[in-house]
Amino acid sequence: MTASSTSALPRFSRIVGTGSHLPSQRLSNTDLARELAERGIQTSDEWIVERTGIRARHFADAGVVCSDLAVAAARAALQAAGREAAAIDLIIVATSTPDMVFPSTACIVQQKLGVHGCPAFDVQAVCSGFIYALAVADALIRTGSARCALVIGSEVFSRLLDFNDRTTCVLFGDGAGAVVLEASNEPGLLASELHADGRHVGILCTPGTVAGGKAIGDPLLKMDGPAVFKLAVGVLEDAARAVLAKAGKTEADIDFLIPHQANIRIMQSTARKLKLGADKLVVTVDEHGNTSAASIPLALDVAVRDGRIRRGHRLLLEGVGGGFTWGAVLLEF
Ligand code: UT7
Repeated sequence: MTASSTSALPRFSRIVGTGSHLPSQRLSNTDLARELAERGIQTSDEWIVERTGIRARHFADAGVVCSDLAVAAARAALQAAGREAAAIDLIIVATSTPDMVFPSTACIVQQKLGVHGCPAFDVQAVCSGFIYALAVADALIRTGSARCALVIGSEVFSRLLDFNDRTTCVLFGDGAGAVVLEASNEPGLLASELHADGRHVGILCTPGTVAGGKAIGDPLLKMDGPAVFKLAVGVLEDAARAVLAKAGKTEADIDFLIPHQANIRIMQSTARKLKLGADKLVVTVDEHGNTSAASIPLALDVAVRDGRIRRGHRLLLEGVGGGFTWGAVLLEF
């Protein structure tokens, strides 16, 4: 990574291609409820749909790792952008389910894409990870440190799930989404907002770690769902208003809201507060479940590929998750 001269600095970073990938194994709520019943855990399609909006999720087969999903999404984004992997000079992967403790999944993605030398690193901000990664890539592009970045959200969250805990295991899924972000003098990312409040570390966490050759502590996901719900609803509205103000825009300027896909009730509440109709809310939580850092780029790619999102549309992307972390990006597609 080398800094270019100030005169050559681009005004914006801009998304020039999107891609995504879902593992082939799709489990409907009914499929999952049947598997859980065999363990003596009771749930139902009705409960899951009513409380979350989730109808299905995808789980990666054993042996499929985070970087596999990330590379598939990255290749799709590169193809959509009409760029070769060799054009990439920065790789950021947002994930909480990396292939290894180290090296980063981004370095493994770089190796699998067959490119070498450019900086590659992971961002760990749980479900806000893609928003954090996009904001970091934007800053590196606008300061001349990179010109063409791959920004990826990729997760195999199924690996962290406790299938004896019905309050969490029905919520999450696996997948990846990616964008190619390039230096541009046309808009572009207009503004971003990133936040964290470490006082809430304990309400959503996977508290295990690796030490002395063993997994130490509990390596399964824990969540106080109602506490997360309450915090999420508040911070998402605040972040939306802050990022709009920063860009000198109002809610009337938003063509599509692409929030983190955790719970349809949280997403609809944000849309209502911003006075956005249902047609402006991109929803994939029904088919993907909560894919953590992958959920926003997955939803973005779905809406780009089905023709809803077109060049010039203004998009509000919002993430919230463990940490507690949250953030928003306003961009012109
Ligand atoms: O990705 C990061 C961000 N994460 C989120 O945004 C998640 C935020 N939280 C949520 O989405 C919701 O809090 C949940 C979907 C996790 C839970 O929904 P809720 O409406 O807050 O339900 P609850 O936790 O208050 O539980 C209500 C009832 C309880 O039974 P009782 O105590 O009322 O008898 C639970 O035991 O629902 C029960 N329950 C279930 N029942 C059937 C909890 N999980 C299930 C289940 N199936 N899977």
